[in-house]
Amino acid sequence: MKRIVIIGATSGIGLELAKLYIQNGDRVGVTGRRGYLLDKLQQQFPSQVETEPFDVMGLENVPHLESLIKKLGGLDTLIYNSGFGNISDQLDWTIDKQTTQTNVNGFVEIVNYAFNYFVKQGRGQIAAISSIASLRGNSQAPAYSASKAFMSTYMEGLYFKSVRLKKRDPVIAISITDIQPGFVNTKMAKGKIRFWQAAVEKASRQIFKAINNKKRKVYITRRWAIVAWILKWMPNWVLRKFA
Ligand SMILES: NC(=O)c1ccc[n+]([C@@H]2O[C@H](COP(=O)([O-])OP(=O)(O)OC[C@H]3O[C@@H](n4cnc5c(N)ncnc54)[C@H](OP(=O)(O)O)[C@@H]3O)[C@@H](O)[C@H]2O)c1
Repeated sequence: MKRIVIIGATSGIGLELAKLYIQNGDRVGVTGRRGYLLDKLQQQFPSQVETEPFDVMGLENVPHLESLIKKLGGLDTLIYNSGFGNISDQLDWTIDKQTTQTNVNGFVEIVNYAFNYFVKQGRGQIAAISSIASLRGNSQAPAYSASKAFMSTYMEGLYFKSVRLKKRDPVIAISITDIQPGFVNTKMAKGKIRFWQAAVEKASRQIFKAINNKKRKVYITRRWAIVAWILKWMPNWVLRKFA
């Protein structure tokens, strides 16, 4: 039985992941702003679910996380899933601000805490749901693509840090998993053309498996690896045609 914290588990991918861990017999600490949805899950599975409603844009991220870890009696895996993004055709500051506060500031504060917690403990796992959008700048949602690139690069940095720590002390085992979904059918999915959009259940099953297998980086669903490869190598003069 593992103790898992999912930051952002009131709906979509986070909620599905929580259900998969519950089915697996694990104990799950769930967060999000909509506390009534967390309570609903807790009432269904009282012995396996602990709740801590909070806004990752607030000033109390670490105290909330500490309180949740205490309720769970420890921590084995932290998943940062909370995310915000919207089309920002007019480069709207309110959208950009909420995007970076959620996907950058909240993310880095919580993941930084979790990594140091795991260093002290000697083991643990961090997974973050970034996005295929991290791979290139996007004219319709520049803050979203940039914030997801931040998440992905930070996770890579933590991976190398965990490798360095292991060289010094072979007992330390911290896994870092970067999850990059394409379109998944939740309220977060934006844009008129949403090709290869996966059902949230299918996407979450693949994410669950990737985390269990301690993968370093995965594309969800798997065939998005093809899009990722094309995006990485596509020259600007081609991308300009879609701007
Ligand atoms: N759906 C897609 O096509 C897609 C593609 C690539 C990546 N992703 C990423 O996948 C993750 C999950 O999104 P989803 O598709 O499952 O959408 P979703 O159903 O809208 O879930 C978003 C989750 O983030 C939480 N959240 C948002 N703002 C928050 C805040 N300020 N404080 C605390 N929690 C907050 C929400 O909880 P509350 O609203 O209750 O606070 C909710 O639990 C996101 O990081 C998203 O960027 C999604």
